[in-house]
Amino acid sequence: MNAAIRGVVRIANSKFQVLGFRRGWEGLITNTFTQLTPRSVSGVLQQGGTILHTSRCPEFKRREGLRKAAGTLESNHVYGLVVIGGNGSFKGALELSKHTDTMIVGIPASIDNDVFGTEETIGFDTAANTAVAEIDKIRDTAVSHERLFMIEVMGRERGFLALEIGLTVGAEIILVPEVKYPKEKLFETIRQNKAKGKKSGLIVAAEGIGDTRRLAQHIQRNTKAEVRLSIIGYAQRGGNPTARSRLLASLFANRAVELLLDEEGNRVVGLQDGRIESLDLQTSCATEKPLDPDLLRLANTLSV
Ligand code: F6P
Repeated sequence: MNAAIRGVVRIANSKFQVLGFRRGWEGLITNTFTQLTPRSVSGVLQQGGTILHTSRCPEFKRREGLRKAAGTLESNHVYGLVVIGGNGSFKGALELSKHTDTMIVGIPASIDNDVFGTEETIGFDTAANTAVAEIDKIRDTAVSHERLFMIEVMGRERGFLALEIGLTVGAEIILVPEVKYPKEKLFETIRQNKAKGKKSGLIVAAEGIGDTRRLAQHIQRNTKAEVRLSIIGYAQRGGNPTARSRLLASLFANRAVELLLDEEGNRVVGLQDGRIESLDLQTSCATEKPLDPDLLRLANTLSV
């Protein structure tokens, strides 16, 4: 997110005064902002999190909150608003657009990668790499202790992160909310893997599949495998962004400012077929991004 903030500030600086609203929507509601200059965003490129801080803001879901936010945009004569966030932020942006004439452009940033209109969101690659580094270490114990590990990764209700991580750590099984994996089939696959000579294994499970602790217990009871659960958790949301996440953030920032200069509001920027494009905010919010079934098939083939 910091790479995106830096990008917007440095690209827009020659034409606009840039304000950074603090703590996300809360800053718009309370009119709390910091003036951002090319120098004030020095040294943030490599930092995780966001220098502006953020918050879950229930007030923004109510009409009163939206009205206050629209009032802040008006009183500060805001020409264009760049919203850096995921699905929830864009839904909020869409609601806000009904209360203001200020142009809004969304930059997709979420470890969940669940925004329609972009093949990748800022932070996804960083989170995936963080988890992969952790799971490679877990694999050492799995192999030497001949255990089966279930590793829960984030992703909210979607399995993009689990699929990417699962494939790249060579997980024997990947569990995502989008594809039901009946328990009996799961037990059978584990038994077959054992029969094939696999003495250990990794199951990468998206948090969205439900209670992984209970599932790990069921697996142990039904397969007699020694099962351990490891939840990677919030480490996935922090740390230095990868080069790829920084690059994407800079490219998205550039396109977002271009859109505002072209007076094209209510858009979301995105990576499509290797190009930085944009689409309608409403379409992005209303459409569910599909999980790539070919990728899941490939992961299954590779885990033979
Ligand atoms: O949307 C990003 C994300 O990290 C999800 O993967 C996770 O489920 C959620 O946020 C956690 O949210 P909170 O920090 O509000 O608990």
